[in-house]
Amino acid sequence: MNTIESLSELRSVVKAWKLSGLIVGFVPTMGNLHAGHLSLVELAKQRCDKVVVSVFVNPMQFGPDEDFDSYPRTFQADSEKLASLSVDVLYVPSVAEMYPNGLEQSVVSVPPALTGLLEGASRPSHFDGVSTIVCKLFNMVQADVSVFGKKDYQQLRVIQQMVQDLNIPIEVVAAPIVRDVDGLALSSRNQYLSKTERAIAPKLSVVLQDIALAIESGNQSFTVLTDVATQRLLDEGFDLVDYIQVCDSITLQAAESASQSLVILAVARLGNARLLDNREVEL
Ligand code: PAJ
Repeated sequence: MNTIESLSELRSVVKAWKLSGLIVGFVPTMGNLHAGHLSLVELAKQRCDKVVVSVFVNPMQFGPDEDFDSYPRTFQADSEKLASLSVDVLYVPSVAEMYPNGLEQSVVSVPPALTGLLEGASRPSHFDGVSTIVCKLFNMVQADVSVFGKKDYQQLRVIQQMVQDLNIPIEVVAAPIVRDVDGLALSSRNQYLSKTERAIAPKLSVVLQDIALAIESGNQSFTVLTDVATQRLLDEGFDLVDYIQVCDSITLQAAESASQSLVILAVARLGNARLLDNREVEL
């Protein structure tokens, strides 16, 4: 595996691949890699001849009171995991290379219909930070295919919308959520959970599954279902439920009926962790 820090070196490696007609896949990450990230790499490897993975903790997508400074940085372990999967290039740009003029730079902003609700409502400017860095990385890597996890469902939709609106020549592939044996969606932030909290955390996936099953068997009282689920989580020991909402899977607007393609999106807080999860509804 070739670990590259400079953009010019990355460009020359990818250019040589493309001249040989090879299909290039790209998986952007913020590191602290777990089996969820690695599943995206596997998917990219299946679809492409060469795979680039980036590790960059992007300051632009963190709010002033968020965990940018304490976000786990585990370069050595990440590098070993990616090398064992035979990733071709690990791209690790510095903040200086990524933002030579600081964060005062051009911003890619996906319209608020998709970015102003759910995660965007509680994390203003978060998605501008995500779409800007992903657009920059797409321009840097010039891959044919990129893989994103459905774990961050709204992020996936924001990237798909950006690619469509800006005619970016890349195929976005959506990868399924990888869960622990007890159902908890894997996340770098799960390590903020204490032992007791870790035992409670899988309830989030349980209530989402229960809502999905209720809708699949004909219940269309979405607000009642999500209110009951919220109360269940609070009774189980969650500190706060930011939202549980049945949404249209494309627009992410609150769904009105099961004639739409649906996804249930949720965020709940447990101690220092903010847990994100979702379930698609199979109708
Ligand atoms: P990060 O949180 O490191 O996630 C990188 C990718 O891994 C995202 O596409 C995310 O959805 C996916 N992922 C994380 N946990 C997963 C799981 N349990 N199952 C499947 N996929 C999972 O998301 C980001 O970084 C950043 O916002 C980034 C896109 C890199 C831009 O900075």
